[in-house]
Amino acid sequence: MAGVSLRHLHKSYGKNGPLVVKDVNLDIEDGEFMVFVGPSGCGKSTTLRMVAGLERVSQGEIYIGDELVNNVPPKKRDIAMVFQNYALYPNMSVFENMAFGLRLRKTEKHLIDTSVKQNARTLEIEHLLERKPRQLSGGQRQRVALGRAIVRHPKVFLMDEPLSNLDARLRVQMRTEIVELHRRLETTMIYVTHDQTEAMTMGTRICIMKDGVIQQVGAPEDVYMRPANMFVANFIGSPPINFIEGRLLPGKDGGLVFDTARFRLPISPEKSKTLLAQGYLEKTVVLGIRAEYVHREEDVPGLAPPTDAPIRGDVHFSELVGADRFIHVKVGDDKLVMRAAAYDRMPDGTKVTLALNPKFMLFFNRDTQQVIA
Ligand SMILES: Nc1ncnc2c1ncn2[C@@H]1O[C@H](COP(=O)(O)OP(=O)(O)OP(=O)(O)O)[C@@H](O)[C@H]1O
Ligand SMILES: [Mg+2]
Repeated sequence: MAGVSLRHLHKSYGKNGPLVVKDVNLDIEDGEFMVFVGPSGCGKSTTLRMVAGLERVSQGEIYIGDELVNNVPPKKRDIAMVFQNYALYPNMSVFENMAFGLRLRKTEKHLIDTSVKQNARTLEIEHLLERKPRQLSGGQRQRVALGRAIVRHPKVFLMDEPLSNLDARLRVQMRTEIVELHRRLETTMIYVTHDQTEAMTMGTRICIMKDGVIQQVGAPEDVYMRPANMFVANFIGSPPINFIEGRLLPGKDGGLVFDTARFRLPISPEKSKTLLAQGYLEKTVVLGIRAEYVHREEDVPGLAPPTDAPIRGDVHFSELVGADRFIHVKVGDDKLVMRAAAYDRMPDGTKVTLALNPKFMLFFNRDTQQVIA
């Protein structure tokens, strides 16, 4: 087992191609489950493929354990990779598919036998060993692909959207299985997905990328509660965070007030202090607040400090999402989404006065889009 370190990693395809991975620096610890997440084309697969040795590094270094592997061929890197289209060999049985990598490495037959059977048991596909891939369901095939990777006990697992061919229910199930597998094997895992829910539920840490650049690396709750910038705040979480532009004006007791054309909100003393210290008085900033910290005022008396201009709006529409209801409220030209309980029906057109929990207000610099902390 080993950690993986990326140092000033850059990649461009072709001689004069644009940089699709830009100065990526990351230390993945031994045994960690690191998820790369970000929108399509942000460079996740390219980064993973460089770790695997399937793409040349344009600039920078990759270490697996203490070894610089830039010039080590894929076969010698002791990694196992599971792809989106896991490409099982159609004419081989499940057993042969799983044994293939070990045979290539000239492992002794009885060891192959033991390893395949043991891992097949772990993945609950022991009863399928004689079948051909076409005789399996999507989830079973996926498990065979995982099995093929884990029989070798590599130093590092690399997975690139391994669940994207599965239906929603099976994805959720396989997610849990991969997390459990990781707990059991304690092998370093790098997992790529564009699905923020998958990233949040699976990773011990997640690395959010955009346009080839790392935006933030942290534990799921870190990046959710303390996003580094507006991109991360918006990309992580469902429904997306609410953003509203407003100006910071002097308020009572030396604090600040967030002022828009429609409403004014007193800001907590600590946050006011930070904003003042960084010169944001009279400046326009972006307020970010997650839907679970938006309430009907009447439901949370005393939560938000009193104001002469509260947030008054109309329910625009609501969506039922499992146990939650996302209620979209129009406040002038702004829109705020509130997370309520499923049973909390608010018909369209209902007039509501909203209260935002001051503790969870985030403020962003409008120009740089970075959080003000
Ligand atoms: N072989 C290639 N030749 C040229 N450009 C490429 C090649 N592979 C990828 N790219 C480009 O590099 C950028 C990053 O691609 P990459 O596949 O790493 O994105 P990704 O984050 O994995 O996206 P997705 O979520 O869609 O899989 C994209 O702009 C893509 O078009
Ligand atoms: Mg990809």
